[in-house]
Amino acid sequence: MDKIIIHGGHPLTGTVKISGSKNSALPILAATLLTKDPCVIQRVPDLSDVHYMLQILAHLGAEVERASGVVTVKAEEVKSVAPYEIVRKMRASICVLGPLLGREKEATVSLPGGCVIGDRPIDLHLRGFEALGAAVRVHGGNVKVLAPSLHGATISLKGKFGTTVLGTDNVMMAAVLADGTTIIEDAAREPEVVDLANFLNKMGAQITGAGSSQIVIEGVKELHGAEHEVIPDRIEAGTFLIAGAIAGGKVTINRVRFDHLAALTDALLACGFYVGGANGVLTIHANGSLKSLHLKTQPYPGFPTDMQAQMCALLATAPGESSVTESIFPQRFMHISELKRMGAAIELDGATAKIRGVDSLSGAPVMASDLRASAALVLAGLLAEGKTEINRVYHIDRGYEMLDDKLGELGAHIERVKV
Ligand code: EPZ
Repeated sequence: MDKIIIHGGHPLTGTVKISGSKNSALPILAATLLTKDPCVIQRVPDLSDVHYMLQILAHLGAEVERASGVVTVKAEEVKSVAPYEIVRKMRASICVLGPLLGREKEATVSLPGGCVIGDRPIDLHLRGFEALGAAVRVHGGNVKVLAPSLHGATISLKGKFGTTVLGTDNVMMAAVLADGTTIIEDAAREPEVVDLANFLNKMGAQITGAGSSQIVIEGVKELHGAEHEVIPDRIEAGTFLIAGAIAGGKVTINRVRFDHLAALTDALLACGFYVGGANGVLTIHANGSLKSLHLKTQPYPGFPTDMQAQMCALLATAPGESSVTESIFPQRFMHISELKRMGAAIELDGATAKIRGVDSLSGAPVMASDLRASAALVLAGLLAEGKTEINRVYHIDRGYEMLDDKLGELGAHIERVKV
C-alpha cells in the first residue's frame, strides 16, 4: 500500500488539465450493455473504480478495449450475473442492474455493502424497477431483478435524503427499452445524469427533461452503438480550486464547465477568493483574507456533498466560526478526526461540523478513509507546517487521476512512497 508524504507551506502556481468525470464515466460504461453494437467512450479517467467497471463488463461477456482515455465496449452477448469478487469493491457497480434489466429482462448483482460515508441503500432503485414491472428478490447478499417484460410507469425517486443519482441512472437505463412512456418524478439533476441521458439519446433512446426533476423516457425497441466524450470531473476541478485556495498562489484549471461548478465557486468567492475565467479556463487566487462560512450540502445544483470534506479543510484556518452541514450523507465526517490530529478545532453536532478557525495546522501521520476525506487530508497537508503522511492512498486512486503528480507539477512538495 502506498503512502503520500507532503511538506506543507509551499504556494501552488500553474495550470491543471481536468480529467473526465468518474461519476459520469461509470454509468455511461454500464449503459454500453444496452446494445450489441460497439460504443466508443472518450475522456475516460484512469482510475481504479473505472478499472473495476471494465472488469465487470468483461465478466458479463463484453469485449473491452482501452487505449489511454478512450474505451471501446462491444457487448454482443451478455450474462446477467455480476461477479461478487469485483462488485464488492465498488458501490457504483450497482448501476449495471438497470441496463441488464433493460436488455436481458433479468439481472443479479451483489448488494453494495455500507461504506465509511454511511449506509448505502438501494430501495429507491428497486422501487423504480418494480414500477416498470420487475420482480425483485434480495437473497444471500444478492439482489435479483426479473421481468417477463417492462412497461412504462410514473415513478417518484424521492427519498429520506432527497433523490438518488445512481437510482435515477438505473431507472433511466431500464426504461429506455420498456414498452411505453416512463416519467421519473423527483429525478436527480446532477450533470452526470444529463451526460448519461445525452449518451443514451445518441444510442437512439428518447429521453427529455434530464437536468430537471422530471425526466420523460419514451421506450424504443432497441439501441445502437454511439461515440461520446465524458464531461469534465467537477469534483476533481473543485478539489484543485480548493488546493489553490488553501496553499496560496495562483492555480488555473482548464477544460471545465463553469455551470457545473457554480455552487462551489460561489462558496469560494464568499470566503475570500477571486475565481474567474472564460472558455472553460478558471483561475483562483486569494482576494483579501480567508473568511468564515456557513454552508450545507444539497442535491445539485446545491453545494455538492463530494466537496464537503475539502471545504472543512479550507475552513479549518478561517478566523471565527464556520459550519458545514451534511444533508445527503449525515455520517460523512471521517475526515474530522484526522483534521483534528493536525490541529483543527472542529466539533460534530449531529450532521453539522462546527469549525473554530485556528491560526495554523501542523503536519501529522493521518489515515485516509474514503475518497473525498482522503483528498481533504492532502489539501490540509499542503497548508500544514511540517510533514504530513497519508496512509492507504488507494482510496485516492479510486477517484483522482494522478493527484500527487498534478499537485507536484503546481509546486507542492509531495511524493508517493511505496510501502
Ligand atoms: C452518487 O452516489 C455519487 N457516486 C456519489 O459520489 C455522490 O456523493 C452521491 O451520488 C450524491 O451526490 C457516483 O455517482 C458513482 P445517492 P449514489 O443514491 O448515487 C440515499 C464520490 O465521492 N439513498 O444519490 O450512490 C443515500 O443513502 C461518490 O464520487 C436511499 O435512501 O448516491 C444517500 O443518503 C461518493 N435509497 C442519498 O440517498 C436509495 O435507493 C443520496 O444517495 C438510494 C440512495
